[in-house]
Amino acid sequence: MQAIVKDLKNTAATTNATDLRAAFADDPQRFERYNVAFDDLLMDFSKTAVNDQVMGLLEQLADEAGVAAKRDAMFSGEEINFTEGRAVLHTALRNRANTPIMVNGKDVMPDVNAVLEAMGRFADGIRSGALKGATGKAITDIVNIGIGGSDLGPVMATLALSPFHDGPRAHFVSNVDGAHIADTLKQLDGETTFFIIASKTFTTIETMTNAATARAFIAEKLGEDAVKHHFAAVSTALDKVAAFGIDSDRIFGFWDWVGGRYSIWSAIGLPLMIAIGPENFGRFLDGAYAMDKHFREAPVRQNLPMLLGLIGFYHRNVLGYPSRAILPYDQRLLRFPAYLQQLDMESNGKGVTVDGTPVDGDSGPVVWGEPGTNGQHAFYQLIHQGTTVIPAEFMIAANGFEPDLRHQHELLIANCLAQSEALMKGRTLEEAKAQLTSKGMDETKASFIAPHRVFPGNRPSITFVYEKLTPFALGRLIALYEHRVFVEGVLFRINSFDQWGVELGKELATGLLPIVEGKESAEGQDSSTQGLVKALAELKA
Ligand code: F6P
Repeated sequence: MQAIVKDLKNTAATTNATDLRAAFADDPQRFERYNVAFDDLLMDFSKTAVNDQVMGLLEQLADEAGVAAKRDAMFSGEEINFTEGRAVLHTALRNRANTPIMVNGKDVMPDVNAVLEAMGRFADGIRSGALKGATGKAITDIVNIGIGGSDLGPVMATLALSPFHDGPRAHFVSNVDGAHIADTLKQLDGETTFFIIASKTFTTIETMTNAATARAFIAEKLGEDAVKHHFAAVSTALDKVAAFGIDSDRIFGFWDWVGGRYSIWSAIGLPLMIAIGPENFGRFLDGAYAMDKHFREAPVRQNLPMLLGLIGFYHRNVLGYPSRAILPYDQRLLRFPAYLQQLDMESNGKGVTVDGTPVDGDSGPVVWGEPGTNGQHAFYQLIHQGTTVIPAEFMIAANGFEPDLRHQHELLIANCLAQSEALMKGRTLEEAKAQLTSKGMDETKASFIAPHRVFPGNRPSITFVYEKLTPFALGRLIALYEHRVFVEGVLFRINSFDQWGVELGKELATGLLPIVEGKESAEGQDSSTQGLVKALAELKA
């Protein structure tokens, strides 16, 4: 693989690949050459620094790394998460063909279908008002208590699909900061509020602490007996859930072969299903399934996740770009960058290969972003003129959900397209100067000011367009990014499915709690920790 990476570096340095402006000027067919469509989802990667040589080498890279074989191993239930001894089968949760998928000699599909059906019955009960609170009132508000993968997916997707939201109001509490749950409970009436405790492990301190606070809220308002009428749980640790006092018909299980950040398709999606209804949730699964099929069947050059992963690797390990910006031109995708941040950074933020040796080159980039057009008025300055090149990934629907505000959607589209054009074309010194003199500025002043108005250009971006952000389209988009992370993980030669890097901080926090509470001395801690503990204790009200 290293030989191909070397060839890619040479090709990038010695061909016109990285001169985007020239590449577009030289080749009127460039868009035709470097865009791929899957149904209504189009990916334009013509504004990245690729040419046919680069594409050929990337295809060779995928081949040599064995991406296709590893993909097939994942789909077939092999134990590819070897550090945790688990299969990786979030794809089974949306296996709409219902073909058998075996784990340890057992088909997982009957269990998957049974939980999905139970979720549907429960969601319908809440949505129709048949399932009531302890005092006989219908449920008006759902509160999901979870964090990380047990929060980000439902919170992101519920907002993204708000035009389909016809169930009770949905709230999400994640942070252990008491402000989060206090501010949420303040708005709620215990009699009509239902809590979903979502935790794969049912040990996560944030979730368990917030769950206890919610439980006390209901017990205090409605009495201890009311708890069972106002709580459901989603977990793989069914024994631990029972101890919380949740009725068995309100416990929704999933399995250790579903990673937390890949769990939106499981019962972790329950708040989303309650919000948009089981039918729309089914369409969300359908969208992901369509992308799964595409990923498995399409040849590399037509395969969106393959191409996105290969270009991501090229940006990180050949061109050396340290981050990528996710820039949805869709206000309802507000939390999509945060969702992808966990998906990508928790999966591919690793320094050790599958052999236990250090990663050769770099692994996952920093992933961040905000919806446009807001970001334009905040951080795009750096993307356009800063000294760091940040590949941008734009996404825009052809249609919004506000037909009366079509003109605003057109403004949104124009802005989205303008940004990628500006990044690609830039503005030369001569152009900057000519612009100033054409407005009447004298030559000397124009020469002085013009350098500040130069845009280097040649800044890469990928743009996705699709018809509309429906449940199907969202499911498809998430699955696309999941598989991209997979492809990059294979190319980095890492295990994308564990997350040992979150452990150390958790362990240290457990040890620090009694010190912060004043029950134990800080002696033995490093001087910074001791100093901070002391400063906070002195400021304590
Ligand atoms: O701390 C990281 C993490 O383990 C994530 O991988 C996971 O999504 C999150 O915590 C929540 O975990 P759980 O669902 O077990 O509460």
